[in-house]
Amino acid sequence: MKQKSLLLAIAASATLLCSAAGLLPYQNTSLPIEERVNDALSRMTTAEKVAIIHAQSKFSSAGVPRLGIPELWCTDGPHGVRPEVLWDEWNQAGWTNDSCTAFPALTCLAATWNPEMSALYGKSIGEEARYREKDVLLGPGVNIYRTPLNGRNFEYMGEDPYLAAVMVVPYVQELQKNGVAACVKHYALNNQEYFRHTVDVDLSDRALYEIYLPAFKAAVQKGGAWSIMSSYNLYKGLHAGQNPRLLKEILRDEWGFDGAVISDWGGVHNTAQAITGGLDLEFGSWTNGLSEGKKNAYDSYYLADPYLKLISEGKVDTKELDKKAANVLRLIFRTAMNNEKPFGSLNTPEHVEAARRIAGEGIVLLKNEGAILPLDMSGKKILVVGENAIKPMTVGGGSSSLKVREEVSPLEGLRRRFGKVAEITYVRGYAGEQLKDHDGMKLLDISDNRSEEEMISEAIAAAKNADYVIFVGGLNKNPYQDCENTDRAGLGLPYGQDKVITELSKINRNVIVVNISGNAVAMPWIKDVAAVVQGWYSGSEAGNAIADVLSGDVNPSGKLPFTFPVRLEDVGAHAMGEYPGNADAFKCNKDTMPEYYKDDIFVGYRHADKIKNAPLFPFGHGLSYTSFEYGKPMADKKQMDADGTITFSINVKNTGKIAGKETVQLYISDKKSSLPRPVKELKGFSKVELAPGEEKTVTFIVGKEELSYFDDAKHAWVAEPGTFEALFGSSSRDIRGSLTFKLTD
Ligand code: GLC
Repeated sequence: MKQKSLLLAIAASATLLCSAAGLLPYQNTSLPIEERVNDALSRMTTAEKVAIIHAQSKFSSAGVPRLGIPELWCTDGPHGVRPEVLWDEWNQAGWTNDSCTAFPALTCLAATWNPEMSALYGKSIGEEARYREKDVLLGPGVNIYRTPLNGRNFEYMGEDPYLAAVMVVPYVQELQKNGVAACVKHYALNNQEYFRHTVDVDLSDRALYEIYLPAFKAAVQKGGAWSIMSSYNLYKGLHAGQNPRLLKEILRDEWGFDGAVISDWGGVHNTAQAITGGLDLEFGSWTNGLSEGKKNAYDSYYLADPYLKLISEGKVDTKELDKKAANVLRLIFRTAMNNEKPFGSLNTPEHVEAARRIAGEGIVLLKNEGAILPLDMSGKKILVVGENAIKPMTVGGGSSSLKVREEVSPLEGLRRRFGKVAEITYVRGYAGEQLKDHDGMKLLDISDNRSEEEMISEAIAAAKNADYVIFVGGLNKNPYQDCENTDRAGLGLPYGQDKVITELSKINRNVIVVNISGNAVAMPWIKDVAAVVQGWYSGSEAGNAIADVLSGDVNPSGKLPFTFPVRLEDVGAHAMGEYPGNADAFKCNKDTMPEYYKDDIFVGYRHADKIKNAPLFPFGHGLSYTSFEYGKPMADKKQMDADGTITFSINVKNTGKIAGKETVQLYISDKKSSLPRPVKELKGFSKVELAPGEEKTVTFIVGKEELSYFDDAKHAWVAEPGTFEALFGSSSRDIRGSLTFKLTD
């Protein structure tokens, strides 16, 4: 009792002190945030409430100047802090103090399978956003990788909901410790760029709850995300930004979200639906008659003058307005008006080191025939081939594009690491289309107008007497590659790369391919090359990280966050789905492109496990320069009831000569279920670092949550009694041990 009265006395004196200091309740950070929100609301006019729920510029929304409530400033993107743009333009403002550190793309972060890397990522990017005085970072993106053609998969965390749900949380938590809100995107079902504004997704609740929502739910409930971005697409006939099922029933009522829902830029289309649909903050609208982002269009936003007019005419009340304004105020108090937030920092050695570390842990060693890697380069003749060895990759790709203080290219990284001990030469090998600018800024001109034949013959001639050939290719951030607003046309590599690789491997058996991409690609030459490394878009430190791995300074420990299929037909969305949509229906109604996710829950390895064709590289695959031996899995019991848990343990030993990290993956298989279930599903993983000869025990605690499926008829998660199998793997297909157990009634 004593302690309670003491606390009350402290709160009362704090209030007195603050009022003595002239602070009003909403300004008093020692008061509970809801008290501050309600106090601010009570002081605001209707016009002021309307003013704060829509944009005032390309990336900012108004505050309440009369009350000293600051504006809210947003910035892209998930991989780094976007350069400043002009007030009402996408084009860059040309500032000279807004270069940043580019962290690896989120597929690379996911490929680390290491939540500590996610925490380091969120902390680092949060410090940069804070220093740049941004209140909301428009990321991370966690849309599920449903098709390898989706232009924006590089911005997301792969095909598995459990991996994405685990990896998104530390990023959000650490980012927000800087007083910068995460804005988790794009909620929900934005799994392709083709028809992204008009595709009308429909799917079973099983697929929605088991595959497409878990990462968003974790970001909200475990990450505590302060904002979420509604996606462009429609879901069951309503745009996601005006969709009560997504924004009220699921997000608020089921998950308890207390943040703000921010529309994607141009994702609002209708005042009435935006009022009742659960949106809080409208950005980027191209309102009727004002075309795209015309100056001073902001008063014409759907939640601006049109909304005010409906209220003043008594056609709508202000209940929804007060909810929206309260959610935006709460976001402002957590960020712009949070006076406990740190000061941040920009382009620090720590951030550059973080970018290199995360990239080094995310790079995946896919193939290493004859242990050709790591390379012993001393005294060797190295030929580096490929446009991606020199092409800047932090620019382009859409809204995640950055202006970096430095980007170390793969060629530069190899030269820095090996230039003194080896003879390194470079030839182009191939050339893609050269874009001139991006967001109004000139791009580095690396154009090469020679013919394909000239480039190939140059490469072949150079490869004749090279000890190693390092081919750096893959995709890039150009439209129809890994790029927002477009999807790829196919699984294959562009620009005739397959031919170059094939020709090189005919005359040199030591070809190492470094694939720079955010998506799976076909590799018809896979048998002809000695090694393949998935290099991702690794940001400012890309070249150094790649050199770290190829040299063995870093022992690769990345694991694929998505399947590499041999062909597109082996992917659920293409074998069973309607990707990119139902063209027949589209013929009748040009406004929307209906797409029913017939692949349902069978996304990624969940589909691959059901067909006879094996993938090129399975989900969870990644080699090391050392080797790991798994012991026999053990369980503390043979059966559990729905309220209990079962603890599994398994030993992992480093049986090689160098230290390394291994990610032990736990998959659960329900041997008999009333509803169809995947062969197995990832329900646990643990990354361990082991010195040569060292052995560690990894444990997993499994409860009914890990055994459940979503029963859409009951609208509930169900753990069905019966026999289950726990499989322990170094990948989804390299299972090193398994145990069966029972779930009893
Ligand atoms: C874009 C993207 C979104 C981005 C926003 C602002 O269209 O879909 O991810 O944050 O607009 O650039």
